[in-house]
Amino acid sequence: MNTKDYDDLILGHYKKIAANFKDLSTSSMEDRYVREKEVEFILTELKREYLLKQIELKVLDVGCGNGYTLSEIKNHFPAFKLYGVEYTPELFEIAVARKLSEVEIFNRDARQADFFDDSVDVAITERVIINILNKKDQETAIINIASKIKLGGLYIMIESFKEPLVQLNLARDEMSLTPIPESYQNIYLNEFFVGRIKKYGLTEITPVMPSNYLSSHFFNSRIIHNAIRPEGGKVKHTRFVSFLDQAFPPAIGNYSPILFRIFRKV
Ligand SMILES: C[S@@+](CC[C@H](N)C(=O)[O-])C[C@H]1O[C@@H](n2cnc3c(N)ncnc32)[C@H](O)[C@@H]1O
Repeated sequence: MNTKDYDDLILGHYKKIAANFKDLSTSSMEDRYVREKEVEFILTELKREYLLKQIELKVLDVGCGNGYTLSEIKNHFPAFKLYGVEYTPELFEIAVARKLSEVEIFNRDARQADFFDDSVDVAITERVIINILNKKDQETAIINIASKIKLGGLYIMIESFKEPLVQLNLARDEMSLTPIPESYQNIYLNEFFVGRIKKYGLTEITPVMPSNYLSSHFFNSRIIHNAIRPEGGKVKHTRFVSFLDQAFPPAIGNYSPILFRIFRKV
């Protein structure tokens, strides 16, 4: 996809998200459980890294959207130096308007090698690489991000993957549910892609929360609930799914396209 088409699609999509969701936590992720666990995962890994390194970390959130995750990191680690990079001008403006102290935010494109001028202890992408709509550019963005992480630093990757989407749709098919497609503004990653990024010095390590943490929630919300919800039954934010999420342990199976992964730069 050329830059003009990319801009029309991605900037058009996120301009609407900015207008509709402003600075809410549900911007770019309406499923509150998923958002809460993504942030918990990031905070858990930052705490581990802080205890390991014993320094106030420099953290870069690439594709930081409206700055919600940066604000949560700031609340928990006030002395960290935080940076955000955001491509959509309207989301960039909302993030800047939060006026978070010791947080610098730039309106830049992660596909460009000069998208960020400093180097950091930790870089994060929270459903961002999947928005880059060709494989080559996805890899370029990873190379660019990896180049900004200090040796020994961390890359916290929260991205969607094709392999669990296949599992999710096989389970849906058993219940005569239609498959869930990738959204029009996404190209999901796959294990082959993860194999390739190891070339850029990123070695995968085991996270504190399991990579498939969201799997049970996806099974509860996208299979069990969809299969037995009666005509006219509530669709989103239900007590039913919330009950199942509490009744079953997390991380059962491989049904969440969104995976939590960690890489150390070596
Ligand atoms: C799904 S949203 C996630 C936003 C944020 N990480 C969050 O969790 O709320 C994806 C974000 O990536 C941004 N984005 C897309 N392409 C980008 C690029 N090439 N460089 C930087 N940001 C980009 C979008 O503008 C959007 O804000």
